[in-house]
Amino acid sequence: MQKLSADIFRVGVIDRQIDLFEGMYAVPEGVTYNSYVIKDEKTAVIDSVDGAFGCEWLKNIETVLNGTKPDYLIVQHMEPDHSACVAEFVKKYPDAAVIGNRNTFVMMEEFFGKDIAPNRITVKDGEQLSLGKHTLKFVFAPMVHWPEVMVTYETETKTLFSADAFGRFGADDNAEWMDEARRYYIGIVGKYGVQVKGALKKISEYEIKAVAPLHGPCLTGKALNEAMRAYLLWSDYKPESDRGTLIAFTSVYGHTAAAARMLADELEKRGEQVKVLDLARDDWAECVAQAFRFPKLVLATTTYNADVFPAAREFIDRLTERNYKNRTVAFIDNGTWSPVAAKIMRAKFEKCANIKFAETEVIIRSALNGQSIAKVKALADELITL
Ligand SMILES: Cc1cc2nc3c(=O)[nH]c(=O)nc-3n(C[C@H](O)[C@H](O)[C@H](O)COP(=O)(O)O)c2cc1C
Ligand SMILES: [Fe+2]
Ligand SMILES: [Fe+2]
Repeated sequence: MQKLSADIFRVGVIDRQIDLFEGMYAVPEGVTYNSYVIKDEKTAVIDSVDGAFGCEWLKNIETVLNGTKPDYLIVQHMEPDHSACVAEFVKKYPDAAVIGNRNTFVMMEEFFGKDIAPNRITVKDGEQLSLGKHTLKFVFAPMVHWPEVMVTYETETKTLFSADAFGRFGADDNAEWMDEARRYYIGIVGKYGVQVKGALKKISEYEIKAVAPLHGPCLTGKALNEAMRAYLLWSDYKPESDRGTLIAFTSVYGHTAAAARMLADELEKRGEQVKVLDLARDDWAECVAQAFRFPKLVLATTTYNADVFPAAREFIDRLTERNYKNRTVAFIDNGTWSPVAAKIMRAKFEKCANIKFAETEVIIRSALNGQSIAKVKALADELITL
């Protein structure tokens, strides 16, 4: 539990047991499911938590409320990591009204049945609710990253309760924010840049002093400015800086890996920031996030059964399904008898918007030789000019 201001409390829980977030993201440092209580003449609870933590969450609310009862449960997002305990809440506090929008209640009935929350208030976009000295404004943020999502602006402390936006993986609030926030955003919300941009525009008319997301730490001051800057870039599919290359490779017997490392050395010699990741061994969501972080991507992979090596094929799918665009891409292809991976990869990236291809293509026959080494160096020369 954390006191955010005189009347606002974070009453969520920490999940350190979870193996895969949303069934696919590794979270070795756990994750938090945040929920908030605003105490005023009327008391509001914002969002619930994952189903495994209902008891703990209700106990947290009880502690903060100190014998009083909540008047409202605001449901900003129906995904079960935040709404699994709505029914438990309603059972415990039947007099409290559940606040959502039209889409929220359609989903709530799907999850919990028609009889859920008979005491409900359906709000419209921009509608306000006064709790006393705190006034809440509900701002719809459809498809960030579900259709019913709304965020809540609190006028007294100028806090934006941002639902899943501005969240990050990791249970430790003091851990560095950017890497795990990027992995979270690109992985989960990356496809919806247009909608995130729309939501950012809508909230830009409010002065925001604090952001209280549903995962990870609350953001204020410098951390909030950095997060806002990152969200503006990410939602626009822009890299975080003008320079920098991700070399993403796969390799069965080590020869393609050697070419990837040689290219990294050559680029570093030329002053480029480089990150090298193994698509078969490094966390896939980190590989995807790093591809979005940098302006340039080199895919070094093997031709495999007349196609692209599976881990690289999957990586490209994961980029394209997240609308990867506005980047420079180059290829290194290794095949023993008929290398075709570069050609196939290029065709996949041609479907993405605004991709510039390096002219130099490195084709390796089994192992690096004088000719392919010269090509690796030529690719380094070309990449630093792009
Ligand atoms: C299961 C398997 C399928 C392969 N299929 C092809 C292929 O279709 N065409 C080709 O040119 N090479 C093919 N190769 C050969 C690889 O491209 C070759 O082993 C290459 O040197 C791998 O580079 P590495 O040392 O980085 O693993 C295949 C290799 C394996 C293990
Ligand atoms: Fe979500
Ligand atoms: Fe979430």
